[in-house]
Amino acid sequence: MSLEELQETYATAGQSQVFTFYDSLDESSQKLLVSQLATIDPARVSRIAETVLSQAPESDPSEITPLPESATASVLTAPPSQIEEWEKIGTSLIAQNSVAVVLLAGGQGTRLGSSAPKGCFDIGLPSHKSLFELQAERIVSLQNLVQNRTGKTEVIIPWYIMTSGPTRAPTETFFKEHSYFGLDPSNIKFFEQGVLPCIDNSGKILLEGKDKVAVAPDGNGGIYRALVQEDVLLDFAKRGIKHVHAYCVDNCLVRMADPVFLGFAESRGVLVATKSVPKRHPKENVGLIVAKDGHPAVIEYSEISDEMAHRTVVDSESGKKVLAFRAANIVNHYYSVEYLDTIPTWSENYLPYHIARKKIPCVDLETGESISPSKPNGIKMEQFIFDCFPQLDFAQFGNLEVRREDEFSPLKNKAGTVGEDDADTSRADLLKQGKRWVVAAGATVSDDVAGVEVPPLISYVSNLLFHEGTVSSVRLGYERSS
Ligand code: UD1
Repeated sequence: MSLEELQETYATAGQSQVFTFYDSLDESSQKLLVSQLATIDPARVSRIAETVLSQAPESDPSEITPLPESATASVLTAPPSQIEEWEKIGTSLIAQNSVAVVLLAGGQGTRLGSSAPKGCFDIGLPSHKSLFELQAERIVSLQNLVQNRTGKTEVIIPWYIMTSGPTRAPTETFFKEHSYFGLDPSNIKFFEQGVLPCIDNSGKILLEGKDKVAVAPDGNGGIYRALVQEDVLLDFAKRGIKHVHAYCVDNCLVRMADPVFLGFAESRGVLVATKSVPKRHPKENVGLIVAKDGHPAVIEYSEISDEMAHRTVVDSESGKKVLAFRAANIVNHYYSVEYLDTIPTWSENYLPYHIARKKIPCVDLETGESISPSKPNGIKMEQFIFDCFPQLDFAQFGNLEVRREDEFSPLKNKAGTVGEDDADTSRADLLKQGKRWVVAAGATVSDDVAGVEVPPLISYVSNLLFHEGTVSSVRLGYERSS
């Protein structure tokens, strides 16, 4: 496209301000700007901006209730025979090499106060393993386990890692520097989600510099567009992948490709499934898995009313008051590839965009000066991964409640600030789990040991490896109680 055509496209979309400084730039800066502008569809940006800016807040008349029982199950109450059955089914899906895992690693971890990708974070375990390393070891462990159990010679669980502009290069470098943590690099595919320009309060694209548009990742819902555009769906087809487990980077307890979860989804014949844990307290920053106007949905913590967050009911089994809405979303999603193959029909027009008002460094169009705003001056537009759920009915969707202490300890905050969901709580939860596992495997652990680090290579989950006889030969790290 020529410069004139590009300028015309932006003018037609009402975004010609991006060329404000073009004439004053040197040739290389002009080239930089033009090459960035050519990757953006300004008409699409204006269309999305117009929609998000015209959304009236607080006007949602939807009927929101807890999920119907028909769409849920719980490992807390399911009979052990049922859990074994799910595990068996899931194990056989993995043995058929029909399962892949997709990691959402495009977020920037700004709340942690670190610019490195969250997966590189060392939560202070005795081994100092990063979140990426723990996850890689869990894949190796599960592959070995399924091989041993089924006698299949080569079990592969390919790992698809979604990065974004800011996280791609450091993530790939980290993996290379650590020799892919023992995994075959041909079974790891990095792919990149999209970005969207940041806009001001009237929908105009902001300039971060005179030769640069301010952009931000398009949210974890950008996964759908990216799965298509980055040929991940094609790769699934080539490898015969039929089932996908997608999960967040920040949860040190995540059970990737959990056979129990896969078996739960497969036995119910659902297109999509989620895992939840009981919400810890009304103000916990988690989304809630609910029924909205007769369809599964997640309402985000920023969007739930105070009354709903605090509403209680009496639990029919325990007779105790519990939160009415307590199915906390831990972003562990199962997808059948049959469903993912339909993405092109809905990812652009069905998924809404959410807005986050942020302090966005930009250039003053009048003076050309750089502004570092002290209060929010602009908007980032994001899609959320769970916003496709309302397309489904309850027969196509299942939610499996799991134990928080076994499966969810996210790293969201800088240690010593909020006091929860930080590196200290992540480390403590992982070590406490290890202690439970070695005790369950017959070890005696003295009371002054707060926790034991069990490398994922040794045990994927306690019942899945210890009893196969490896515990006696390993070195376990531990942390003393203070
Ligand atoms: C998310 C969930 C919330 C849930 C909570 C549990 C969404 C929209 N919200 O909230 O319902 O209760 O986790 O921990 O899913 N990411 C990208 N690209 C992006 C933005 C984020 O890949 O553009 C990834 C992050 O790297 C992370 C995951 O998405 O792995 C969740 O992002 P984060 O910002 O931590 O979500 P929360 O607000 O904590």
